Amino acid sequence: MEATLKSFAPSIQNNEGVCSVCGVKTIRTVEFMGIKRTFRVMCKCMQKQLEQEKLSQLKQDRMRKAQKLKKFSLIGERYKNATFESSKTGINPSFDRAFKRCRKYCELYEKTIKNGYGIYFFGDKGVGKTHLTACMANNLIAKCVPVLFTNLFEISKAVKSTFNRESSLTEQSLIEKFANIEVLFFDDLGTEVFTKSSGDTWLQSLLFDIINKRYNSKKATIFSSNHSLNELINKSGIAGKTVDRISEMTSGAVMKIEGISLRKIKKDSIF
Ligand SMILES: Nc1ncnc2c1ncn2[C@@H]1O[C@H](COP(=O)(O)OP(=O)(O)OP(=O)(O)O)[C@@H](O)[C@H]1O
Ligand SMILES: [Mg+2]
Ligand SMILES: [Zn+2]
Repeated sequence: MEATLKSFAPSIQNNEGVCSVCGVKTIRTVEFMGIKRTFRVMCKCMQKQLEQEKLSQLKQDRMRKAQKLKKFSLIGERYKNATFESSKTGINPSFDRAFKRCRKYCELYEKTIKNGYGIYFFGDKGVGKTHLTACMANNLIAKCVPVLFTNLFEISKAVKSTFNRESSLTEQSLIEKFANIEVLFFDDLGTEVFTKSSGDTWLQSLLFDIINKRYNSKKATIFSSNHSLNELINKSGIAGKTVDRISEMTSGAVMKIEGISLRKIKKDSIF
């Protein structure tokens, strides 16, 4: 099978247009009704070379895109290299169970993200919730899925910064950014305790706004918290209507992680 050669200049072709592998002449001349036409063809080796070059170009484009996505993902320095492959397992059984489900979630990412499946991790300090969600985020980024990794404190700080007259972003455009991103990793939900003060009312509305927008558009959101869903209301004072939506967004995937703190293990092994 020979295909017409266009802009591709294969390195296996010599100056006379002969393939150095199979010897096929790539420059052909035909005469039709007295008109001579010269054209070029590709032998199988050249077609293979072209396919390989296209593939490696595609790979490079994906890598470049993933690097860009990572840069804008807001994943912290500590967690930016967290991967499933380099994670410790076999310490806390509940972590291992969650770990397997997260891996599966990422394997099936086209389906899980499209369906807006969320996950709610909760449990003690240091058991690996943020680490695990970062593994997911890094895995999805490598698959070129746009993600943001943040928490309510950082979101509110960013939104407040738009109140500054010199800010090039508007409050609404920033909220849309968190509301529309393909996958939002919401770390440490419930750390802030809400009171009835006006500042907290603003924060409650901001949280509701982002969650509600993601709920309405069925966007995948992955939460981590030290509190159960009930405690988000009872201990952190998050509005019931917000928690109700989070509950539906993560239904079937509320996972408690408990056991030994890996922070403690890490410290012990360093000193
Ligand atoms: N499976 C793991 N493999 C390797 N390192 C891990 C693993 N799990 C956690 N770590 C490391 O242990 C430390 C604590 O983990 P992490 O920050 O994820 O805990 P957390 O459950 O989010 O705690 P908190 O509730 O306080 O936010 C971090 O330094 C993290 O990188
Ligand atoms: Mg954490
Ligand atoms: Zn050839």
